[in-house]
Amino acid sequence: MEQYELDALEAVTSRPSPEYSTITVDALTPVIGAEVSGIDLSQELTEEQRADLHAAFLHHHVLVFRDQVITSDEHKRLAGYFGELRPVNPPPPGDPYLLEISTSKGATEVAGNRWHSDGTADAEPSLGSMLYITRIPEAGSGGDTLFANMHLAYEMLSPAMRGFLDSLTAVHDGAHFKVKGYTLPPEYVVPVNEHPLVVRHPETGRKILYVNGVYVSHIPQLSDEESRAVLDLLNGIPSSRPLLHCRVRWTPNTLVFWDNRSAQHHASYDYYPFTRYGQRVAINGGPLKA
Ligand code: SIN
Repeated sequence: MEQYELDALEAVTSRPSPEYSTITVDALTPVIGAEVSGIDLSQELTEEQRADLHAAFLHHHVLVFRDQVITSDEHKRLAGYFGELRPVNPPPPGDPYLLEISTSKGATEVAGNRWHSDGTADAEPSLGSMLYITRIPEAGSGGDTLFANMHLAYEMLSPAMRGFLDSLTAVHDGAHFKVKGYTLPPEYVVPVNEHPLVVRHPETGRKILYVNGVYVSHIPQLSDEESRAVLDLLNGIPSSRPLLHCRVRWTPNTLVFWDNRSAQHHASYDYYPFTRYGQRVAINGGPLKA
């Protein structure tokens, strides 16, 4: 590795861990993800528990809670501790805040089977998502979700590349990515918005490479060819750098809370033709700035 890459890794791995008074937090990797225990998410949380979870979320970006038996209302209450609930677009038939993440038997495609963050095409992209998986594939394994640390993706670029990217923006288009055989429902209001290509995390100020292959259509400051070439390079980073990753292996009644600014995720569809079921609640964020 180049010295600047090693420096970035060392800076991340030597950060002091927050002190927690109510929970136990075990890192999944030195750069992203942690399992949290000692908390029952079906109960109302105290100020101390909420502060501990918030600190762990900012430090690890992805929090995994095992063996949680919660209702939809408790799921939404939990999300509401961290911000305003985000309505699903297009509105689902039932609860406007609950998105079913459901794979039917023999499905040819599943939601999230590409590197992305949720809702980046919105003017005020999502702060985070909470996915509660209650049924894993009948095979007993598969359907893991991968997460990539997009702070570190930025920090491991060469200084010259970081300087170049810092001045650019990217257009995020909710209809950019086409899934074979799938047409967008007519009631889907397609969001199209421009964000800085490198944004600062609204709470920590740390820079993030904020670009993904599902939503970003182009970089308006560049020619079409230049934009394509730069996006091919940047969109390839999460998949080509396993050191940015953690991998969550789901067990029934696991809830994962991830940061949609600092982490991208990829649901792996390695369990065809089996099924999988969960529900996701997302949280509103604010506008993102360079
Ligand atoms: C998603 O939110 O993209 C779905 C993630 C998953 O099913 O693991």
